[in-house]
Parts: sequence; structure tokens; C-alpha cells
Amino acid sequence: MRIIERIDEMARWSECERRQGRRLAFVPTMGFLHEGHLQLVRDARRRGDRAVVSIFVNPTQFAPGEDFAAYPRDLERDRGLLEKEGVDVLFHPAAEEMYPDGFQTHVAVETLGSFLCGPKRPGHFRAVATVVAKLFNIVRPDVAIFGEKDYQQLAIVRRLVRDLNYPIEIVGHPTVREPDGLALSSRNVYLNAEERKAAVCLFRALGKAACAVRRGAVDAARIIAAARAEIDAQPLARVDYIELCDPVTLEDVQQLTHAALLAIAVRIGKTRLIDNTILKR
Ligand code: PAJ
Repeated sequence: MRIIERIDEMARWSECERRQGRRLAFVPTMGFLHEGHLQLVRDARRRGDRAVVSIFVNPTQFAPGEDFAAYPRDLERDRGLLEKEGVDVLFHPAAEEMYPDGFQTHVAVETLGSFLCGPKRPGHFRAVATVVAKLFNIVRPDVAIFGEKDYQQLAIVRRLVRDLNYPIEIVGHPTVREPDGLALSSRNVYLNAEERKAAVCLFRALGKAACAVRRGAVDAARIIAAARAEIDAQPLARVDYIELCDPVTLEDVQQLTHAALLAIAVRIGKTRLIDNTILKR
């Protein structure tokens, strides 16, 4: 596996591979890899002739007071994992090269970025869209894989690619979970033993909502209440939001007439966790 830090070297490597007719598959990450990331990587290996994984803890997508400094990092471990998966290139750029002095251009996927996590994390999705656009321009992949766990991010990337005419196929990969249902996340390391146990309430809440739908609930209020009851029953958990929305536009829906996204964000102690599921009648 080749490790590339310089942007021009990454772009040259990609150009050379593409000229030889190879299909490039790309998985952008912030590292501290877990099985969820690795499943995306395996998907990339299947979909392309060459697999590129980026590890870049993007400073701009963390608001002041968020966990940028504390965000877990372990490049040596990540490198070993990616090597074992047969990844061709690990791209690990420096923040100074990604954001040189004078940087001032941003990509805002405006409406999609204004729902769900948008109001809770001002500037976050603009920073994500901007870094993803930069990474796409540097790596120039044919296909890129994103997790459905970060559903809003995936929806924003799909829109970005259409709106700015990137010739890139975007693939969504199902959420990878622990045996008890907790969605894998690099942030799960912040949870102490008690909080880790409590964190399963997100998955249970999604299950309770699905159960309410099976029993005939169609009103968003009823479906959301079923999920909320599960979070409220957990003393260590506090609801940030629970919303039922259109899976493409992310606009609120009042009734479950067609498939809808149930998205939840919950604080467990100081850690903010998200999860989601698609509900169908
Ligand atoms: P990160 O949180 O490292 O996630 C990298 C990719 O892994 C994302 O597409 C995310 O949705 C996916 N992922 C994380 N946990 C997953 C799980 N349990 N199951 C399936 N997929 C999962 O998301 C980011 O990094 C950044 O915002 C990034 C896109 C790299 C831009 O900086």
C-alpha cells in the first residue's frame, strides 16, 4: 500500500491509473477505523480496480467547542488495517496543504444542509461538502462509497455531485452495527461502560418506531413519540432531535404515506450519537 501525503502526488497517481483504464473507487474517512469503515473499503475493492482511502480529520467541520482536538487518531493502526484489506493508496494530506493561508471558497448544499443536524451544527455540512469536493477533485474517483449511518451527509454528497456535475457514482452502504444494535462510530470510544450500555437506546428507539408503524401508526407525531419514549426511559440519554422526513429532500413529513427517514440524535452524557432508519408502511 502506498501512503501519499502530498496533493499533487495523489492527483498524479490517479491520473496515471485512469490513463491505464483503471476504475478508481474511493472511501473518504477521518480515520480511527472500525468495521463500518472497513466494510465500505471492501465495497470499494469490489467496485473498482484500485481502492483509495483518505484519512483526514477535517478541522473545518468541527465547530469551536466540538471534539476536534480530542477526536481519536491512530494512523499506525489504521495503516495496518487498510494494508490487510488490500487498499492501494492511503491518502493522508496535511491540514496546511488542504487549507493554505487565504483559503476562502466553500460549497454549500443549502437546503439539505438546513435540516436535522444542520441547525445543531452550524457550518458543519458546508465544511463537509467543501472537503468532499476537494477530495473528489484531487482523487478524481469513478465511484465513492459513503455510509448510510451519516444519512444527511450522504444525501448532501449525492446532491453536490449532481449539482456540480461530478462524474462520480455515489454508493450508500448500510449501517454496520454492534451485536446489540449500536451503530459503529469512532465516537463510541468516548462512552464509559455505563454510557455504552445506555447507548443501545438509539437502536431500540428506531425499533419501537418501526413496531408502531407495523401496528398501524401513520402520524409522524405518534411514530416519533414511540421512539422518544425509549430515549426518555434512559436516564443517561437526552434527545437532541427525532424527526420523520422525506428520504430525498429531508423535509419533515406529517404522515407516513410513502417511505420516510426516521433520524435521531441523542446525547449520552457528553457524547452526541446519531442513527436512522427508513420506515415503510
Ligand atoms: P467518518 O466519520 O470517518 O466516516 C467515514 C465514512 O464511514 C462515512 O461515509 C460514514 O458514513 C461511514 N461510516 C461511519 N460509521 C459507519 C457505520 N457504522 N456503518 C456504515 N458506515 C459508516 O464521515 C466522515 O468521516 C467525514 O465527514 C468525511 C466524509 C470523511 C468528510 O470529512
